[in-house]
Order: sequence, then structure tokens, then C-alpha cells
Amino acid sequence: MKNILLLGSDASYLAQEIKGFNVKTVFTKKFPDGETYVRLPVDVQNSDIVYIQNFFPHQNDSIVEALLTIEGLKDYKANLKGLIAPYFPYARQDKKFLEGEVISFKAIIKLFSSLGVKRIGSINTHALKKPGVYTIEDVEFHNEDASPLLYSYFNDEEFLAVAPDKGAEHLVSNFKKKIILKKERGKYVDSKASTQRPVERIVGDVPEGVERAIIFDDMISTGGTIVKATKFLLSHGVKRVSCATIHGLFINDAVEKLKDAGIEEIVTTNSVKNEFARISITPIIHRLASTFFEL
Ligand code: R5P
Repeated sequence: MKNILLLGSDASYLAQEIKGFNVKTVFTKKFPDGETYVRLPVDVQNSDIVYIQNFFPHQNDSIVEALLTIEGLKDYKANLKGLIAPYFPYARQDKKFLEGEVISFKAIIKLFSSLGVKRIGSINTHALKKPGVYTIEDVEFHNEDASPLLYSYFNDEEFLAVAPDKGAEHLVSNFKKKIILKKERGKYVDSKASTQRPVERIVGDVPEGVERAIIFDDMISTGGTIVKATKFLLSHGVKRVSCATIHGLFINDAVEKLKDAGIEEIVTTNSVKNEFARISITPIIHRLASTFFEL
């Protein structure tokens, strides 16, 4: 059987970067009523497939596209060896904060599992916190770590590594010069406009005389965390502050807010397409594809 790396429409930007695999792309368009049309390349027939779909910024549409693609692969007697989702969707809600809330992370994995997906690969998935291989809803979930890619970008530079909260502690654990800040959040607001607790305050001990600090985090969403951490560091004597994150979503005016806060440089991987994506995740795609194809 031949091996094919099949890209979904939101992952097609990775096509040029992936070398050493037979790469094909799913053709999609919209029906007039907004529903998704999917057509698979004929080459996938009787092949081993690793399917890569990215689930941002069109999470819901991308999930439907994935569902149709996976069904189509079955019809074509293709053998799906695994799904790679560089940014895994619905992974922020991993527990119930308010009565009646749904744990979306588990629900989405259940959906893929019900379609026959046995292995999923992703990168620094928010719900899982730590890298490793997990079994969730009968799916072998490989949570890869992109932080070494971030570190090599800043290789040879002198800086204080900063975790903006306890959850990011593992991202700075390799550094000698590091601090872990504490993020204090306000109460959950049970309203339509708010889906998270606002970051109210950042606290921590900043050493004296720091020329440069780099904040490491798993993601920038609204920018609230990095904005608060940047302001905190600058107001505690740090001269220059940059940030390095794995997933850069930059919701609404996040970029403006970050610039206004005085950030010097913003760097992310290209797990999600954005203007600050300086670091390629293809080494991770290669690793996962090789594992799933059992090469
Ligand atoms: C929080 O637990 C995460 O690690 C990030 O710090 C957070 O999700 C980033 O979101 P935002 O950019 O909206 O502050």
C-alpha cells in the first residue's frame, strides 16, 4: 500500500513545507446554502493515509470537513493511520466551571473516535498541559511539544525566561534564568459576552537589572495574559520584553493590545497561520507521520 499525507483545506498552507511524503490535498467548496462539499483525490484509494487538518480559524467548518473526509476515505477503502491536528479544537474547555457546561475537549475526541480514528497527533494541546501519549476515549493521543523549536529560535541570546502563569512552568523549566509569574483571575462572569475569567493581576519576583525577558506560553488568544505580563515586567525594571508562543490565534485586536503594552517581538510557530509565525512545525509533522505510518 502506498502512503499519502492528505491535507484538509485549512492545512493546505503546509503543503510547500512538507518534504519526503506524497502530499495530496482535499478539494472543498461551499454549497449555496453554506454546507461543505468535499471531494477526495482518487489516489487515496487503497492507500495508507495520514490526514492533517487544521482547526483554526474555522473550527466548526473544519470539523465537518474532517468528518466528511474520514467517511469518504472509508468509501475509498483507504486505511486511515492517524489524524494530525497541529492546533486541536475545543481544547480550552477541559472541565466544568459552571453548572451545565459541556467538556468540549472530550466530546470532540469522542466524535473522532466514533468515526474510527484510532490515533491523533497534536501540538501542546491546552487541555492536556504536558506532552506525552494519552489514551482518551479509545484514541491514542500524541501531544507533541513544540517548545524546543521556540528555544532554538532564540538560541545564543541572553534573556530571562518568563512563564506568565503556573500552567506555563514546564515551558521554562530548562532555563537557568527563569521566573514563574502568578496569574490572578477574576470571577467567572455568567454572560453571553464573556467565556473566561478576566486576568486581573500578575504577581511575581523580578530580579534586578534584567535587560531582556522572553515570555513563553502555549498560546495567545485574546492577548490578555501576555499584555498583563509584559506590562508587569516593564514596570518592574525589565528593559525589553518579547514573547514566544506555540499557537498564535490573535483574536480581535490582540496584536494592537500587545504592541500598545510595549512588546518588542512576537514569535509563534505556524501551527496556526498568522503574521508572527516564524517557526515551522514540519519537524513535528514528520515525526508524527512517521510514527503513524510505522516507518
Ligand atoms: C492559559 O491558561 C493559557 O496558557 C494562556 O495563557 C491563555 O489561554 C492565553 O489566552 P489569552 O491570550 O486570551 O490571555
